[in-house]
Amino acid sequence: MVKESLTGERRVALAPEGVQKLVALGYQVAVEPGAGRTADIGDEEYAAVGADTERDLLEEADLVASVQPLRVDQIRRLQPGAATVSFVPVAQSLDQIRDIRDCGVTAFALELVPRISRAQSMDALSSQALVAGYRCGVVAAGMLRRFFPLNMTAAGTVPPAEVVVLGAGVAGLQAIATAKRLGAVVKAYDVRAAAAEEIRSMGAQAIDLELDTLDGAGGYAREMTAERAQLQRDRLAPHIAAADALITTAAVPGRTAPMLVTAQMVEQMRPGSVVVDLAAESGGNVEGSVAGDVVRIGAAQVWGGANVPSQMPAPASRLLSTNIVSLVTLMTTRDGDDGPAQFAPDFDDEVVAGSCLIHAGVVRHEPTRLLLEGDPAHG
Ligand code: NAI
Repeated sequence: MVKESLTGERRVALAPEGVQKLVALGYQVAVEPGAGRTADIGDEEYAAVGADTERDLLEEADLVASVQPLRVDQIRRLQPGAATVSFVPVAQSLDQIRDIRDCGVTAFALELVPRISRAQSMDALSSQALVAGYRCGVVAAGMLRRFFPLNMTAAGTVPPAEVVVLGAGVAGLQAIATAKRLGAVVKAYDVRAAAAEEIRSMGAQAIDLELDTLDGAGGYAREMTAERAQLQRDRLAPHIAAADALITTAAVPGRTAPMLVTAQMVEQMRPGSVVVDLAAESGGNVEGSVAGDVVRIGAAQVWGGANVPSQMPAPASRLLSTNIVSLVTLMTTRDGDDGPAQFAPDFDDEVVAGSCLIHAGVVRHEPTRLLLEGDPAHG
């Protein structure tokens, strides 16, 4: 496992518990010195479960785990036939993807793990969305200079804060649960048909905009037409104007985030209101939000999320580590009970095939291949 080098990335791919499981499976595990420091995990914790924390073994590795894709100079040190497991944000990783392909390295992308029941323990999108959603709820509570819960005291009654959550997928539902636990009155909206029931099951009120639902393939949302988007914004506007805190988490796979809230809608919010836009990095659900920054729109403070799971690096890393170890376990065979582990992915397995981005010099994920071919620098 390597130390992350992308600015702001504080997570690590493997926690000590994960290393311990890989060692028990028969792997020799090397951890780059200092790799866990940003996630509050010391080298001695890795060494205690059997990791080599002294040497850099990239040239010898059969498999390298990381959160972000390896740098090009790291990829070029790998032996042909070696494999990597990491997130691979395709649009920002074209150089690495070309190099992985040309070096004969196999890459598994955590984003591509099929979201089927059997692969739930490998679903890093869900585990990291859970962290991000919780963090959004806590950030909103921290920024709002008011109580979230109802308080009835001898000095008078303080009404609870009203929180509106847009997008009730994994992150949105966790933001709802967090705001509810802190005592806010929560209302939420999502375009998927199943979402209203999921919102109510969290104890929140499902906002009914009397619009068609937009269910796409694989349980995800479909993109809105411009007309539908305008109607949605018009009907959401009064709910947003009445909210003390707005949390937005909406996404459509493979697209920039839908713009759900205009700056004009934010300007209708009361002084002191807060907006938390988890989608700020992927285009933003809120017009004018800036990833990694707090900006003022009208009388509201607008927080734009940037690598939000990394803001809680220890729990995010531990969950991610479990996802990675489950995926690696699926691709491991062993001679007898105490022989060395063999990393031997079975490409007939739906989860293995689905999560493989590049193998044997071929980009196997069609949208990535098309993107690479369309880019004159990388084709
Ligand atoms: P996501 O991150 O792609 O999107 C977040 C949410 O934004 C979604 O709920 C989506 O419906 C919503 N959204 C999109 N456009 C919107 C708009 N215009 N207005 C309001 N909301 C909008 O999705 P996520 O959280 O990764 O997963 C969504 C769903 O996928 C889950 O609720 C579930 O049905 C399914 N899923 C299945 C899993 C499994 O079977 N293992 C695991 C995780 C998710």
